[in-house]
Amino acid sequence: MTGASNRQIVVAARPDGDARRSDFAFAEQPVPVPGAGEVLTRSLLISIDPYQRSLMGNAASELPPIALGQPMSGPVVAIVEQSRHPDFAVGDHVVAWSGWQQYGLSDGADLRRLDPDAAPLSTALGVLGHTGLTAWLGTTTFMDPRPGGTVVVTAAAGSVGSLAAQLAKRRGHRVVGIAGGADKVRSLTRDLGLDAAVDYKAADFAEQLAHALPDGLDGLLDNVGGAVFEALMPHVNHHAHIAIAGLIAQYGHPGAPPGPNRLPALLRLFLYRFVQIRGFAMPDHVASYPAFLADVAPLVAHGAITYSEEFVDGFDSIPDAFLRLYDRRNPNRGKLIARVG
Ligand SMILES: NC(=O)c1ccc[n+]([C@@H]2O[C@H](COP(=O)([O-])OP(=O)(O)OC[C@H]3O[C@@H](n4cnc5c(N)ncnc54)[C@H](OP(=O)(O)O)[C@@H]3O)[C@@H](O)[C@H]2O)c1
Repeated sequence: MTGASNRQIVVAARPDGDARRSDFAFAEQPVPVPGAGEVLTRSLLISIDPYQRSLMGNAASELPPIALGQPMSGPVVAIVEQSRHPDFAVGDHVVAWSGWQQYGLSDGADLRRLDPDAAPLSTALGVLGHTGLTAWLGTTTFMDPRPGGTVVVTAAAGSVGSLAAQLAKRRGHRVVGIAGGADKVRSLTRDLGLDAAVDYKAADFAEQLAHALPDGLDGLLDNVGGAVFEALMPHVNHHAHIAIAGLIAQYGHPGAPPGPNRLPALLRLFLYRFVQIRGFAMPDHVASYPAFLADVAPLVAHGAITYSEEFVDGFDSIPDAFLRLYDRRNPNRGKLIARVG
């Protein structure tokens, strides 16, 4: 290991609106040396996630921004290179929270051991990882409407949305997915088996929505916020349950959006339609991983759940891939993962 370097992608500047390539920089540090009780991991697969925009600062977020010059934080699949920790051995595969760098140092608290024979390693960053846990929490805990009700899932072709929509379907709900573009919308009904799908980019989005929701919605798992959420508000039924998992349309825009103030309309929903709205974040619920995996891993193993992954190759490809999460002309198609080792 002596002489080897640890390449990192660091936050170089606070974005003004959407992130740009110049907000990232490459850096090199010596490979860290594990002390007593520590583990050195080498990244194999690096997760690229929408919430990482929030960590860059100047965001509509309450997550504390990463210090300038520090690597982007986030989950990776890694292999243990050196261990001075009793629970981890050299060669173990783990999920670590070491972010956009080639090596990570951990005291073991953030490491989750993986069995590479049980499922493809990449699934630990998607359908069986943090986005899968988010989808499962949303559908089983935070947005569980009346049996047989209509559930809407936004960003339904994404990693969280596609699993949430399928789990809601398995729980007996009528499920309507919202995504951008004809291809993704078609795949929601054809590949995921949803009851209806709506294209938020289409000129007739409002008409499509009204057609897909003749009896309104009883549950909403929202990953988007912004204009898509606003369009759904008139369709919200009495006693509906709304779970807010993400606000990808808003992260880059901390100021008030253009147009009329929707707060009075939102408060009317609370008061007159007795709506329950809950936000949630999966880091608060990591203790639920075993229950989530016990429920969902067998479904994935038996092919009962459809999931998509999009791989980019090489460490240097990460910043451009990240920017595509926010590029409405060339969006990602599935859980975005960089193969780096
Ligand atoms: N609460 C938590 O703990 C937690 C954990 C993980 C993720 N999340 C959140 O969940 C959401 C989805 O994450 P993911 O991992 O599933 O991401 P993903 O698989 O990368 O999907 C994101 C998708 O969002 C859609 N999108 C992007 N900008 C949009 C906009 N302005 N309006 C409407 N749709 C837009 C795009 O799909 P189209 O091509 O259809 O536009 C994009 O492919 C994000 O908001 C993320 O922050 C929350």
